[in-house]
Amino acid sequence: MSDPAAKPPTILVIDDDAEIRYSLTRVLGSRRYQVTEAASGEQGIAMVKKGPWPDLVFLDVRMSGMSGIEALQHIRSVNPKQLVVLMTAFGTAQTAIEAMKYGAFDYVMKPFDPAKVLSLAENALKAHADLRAVGDYKPTINADDYREGIVGSSPVMQDVFKVIGQVTASDVTVMITGESGTGKELVARSIWKHSHRAGKPFIAVNCAAIPDNLIESELFGHEKGSFTGATGQRLGKFELCDGGTIFLDEIGDMALATQTKILRVLQQGDIQRVGGTETIKVDVRILAATNKDLEEMVRAKTFREDLYYRLNVVRIRMPALRERGDDVPQIVDFCLQNLFKQRKARASKVSPEAMAILVRYRWPGNVRELENVIYRSAVIAQGETILVKNLPSEILETAGEGDALAGELPATTPVPTRAASLERALPTLTLVRALDFVYDELVQKGGPLMPPLTAAMLERALKAAAGDHAKANAQLGLIESKPEELPKKKSAPTKRKT
Ligand SMILES: Nc1ncnc2c1ncn2[C@@H]1O[C@H](COP(=O)(O)OP(=O)(O)OP(=O)(O)O)[C@@H](O)[C@H]1O
Ligand SMILES: [Mg+2]
Repeated sequence: MSDPAAKPPTILVIDDDAEIRYSLTRVLGSRRYQVTEAASGEQGIAMVKKGPWPDLVFLDVRMSGMSGIEALQHIRSVNPKQLVVLMTAFGTAQTAIEAMKYGAFDYVMKPFDPAKVLSLAENALKAHADLRAVGDYKPTINADDYREGIVGSSPVMQDVFKVIGQVTASDVTVMITGESGTGKELVARSIWKHSHRAGKPFIAVNCAAIPDNLIESELFGHEKGSFTGATGQRLGKFELCDGGTIFLDEIGDMALATQTKILRVLQQGDIQRVGGTETIKVDVRILAATNKDLEEMVRAKTFREDLYYRLNVVRIRMPALRERGDDVPQIVDFCLQNLFKQRKARASKVSPEAMAILVRYRWPGNVRELENVIYRSAVIAQGETILVKNLPSEILETAGEGDALAGELPATTPVPTRAASLERALPTLTLVRALDFVYDELVQKGGPLMPPLTAAMLERALKAAAGDHAKANAQLGLIESKPEELPKKKSAPTKRKT
């Protein structure tokens, strides 16, 4: 993928510990990275300010002088897009929270695993490239132009808008069908807003959410004492909505008995309260919606055929989001601009690669799912741009991006240190590589490097000399070795063989 002619990515390592700087530079330098070092937060900031900005900064949290978190804030204020990976020996919740709060890309625990450092650098630089590709982001729409809240310029949505326009002037009953989350309620509200009933109530009744024994009272009201618990007279939605529009949502979930009463309202324009004898005239327009297959229900006799024809005078079929291809970026921009206005998130852009994934995704939950994904991604995005890595994993997995980001694991995920290190050392094992390997291993174990190394060499020399100390010392180049320098016998005194 990488262009061999391209300039190597630049990485700045800021740490007051010379050994850490040295080992990081070596690990990163083993790849095509150009590494520079700074020995303090102050020096690092000066280098970032002077420019050119490095592609990535590794920054130690605990340093004498300015702390890493302070340096991070400074750096991000100079260049809000600067990618920074924090390094810490103390994986406290506070460090992790602060790091992410102040916009670190990630953080890595010390002592670190070279493989982890490299995969982190690679992911960060990938995110960097993703960010650079954003360029001058031009939103596809301006949310202010969409007071209706219905966004879409795909031909299928244009057809929907046309039908909405055609049915607003009359009181015709409209049946809106479509998968969950396609915007059925939004369309119902839009019809109402454009109709002459706009000044009167719009009441949405979710037929699936109200138990069968309560729905009639809910819709038509009840008289005092009409059933246990009916302590007073209560007006139903139809009476309350007189002059307005009732939206019967999930009508496919309505019991047959209630269906009969609804049919009566449609045919005669009147209702009776539960337990009452009075016939009350109501002037209500009915809009209905369902994600069920009503035709199938009519065939199965679970939905009244006569009611079906009464409701289905005009049908609006809401297309699934996956059928509206070009609408996805528009809805994304619409959601982002609204989130920004509501101060729920700062992100206002999406990287081209992330947008391509959003456009490709199948969206089984349609616009509601897209809204939700944008909200989640915008909240976790560290800057003003949603990057691929900010998208939820379920979207990345189905988009086939899961593997590409496999290295982008949380900092706590254990990586097989020895195996990874050995793998790099083995292909053409030379003394230098073997020593590199030993060095990496010892650095990771922490503590001074020489004692374990001396002990290991002594042990080997002794073994080769069949326990002859003088011979071993000669081989090691030591004139004399004190007994305490010799490797301790593995067997504890209690287990000593006699
Ligand atoms: N075209 C669109 N543009 C912008 N936002 C939309 C669009 N369609 C739907 N939405 C938003 O998606 C969410 C779901 O819409 P809505 O509740 O109208 O769907 P629905 O079809 O009634 O879903 P359900 O079948 O689950 O009840 C809402 O927050 C709505 O504002
Ligand atoms: Mg709905």
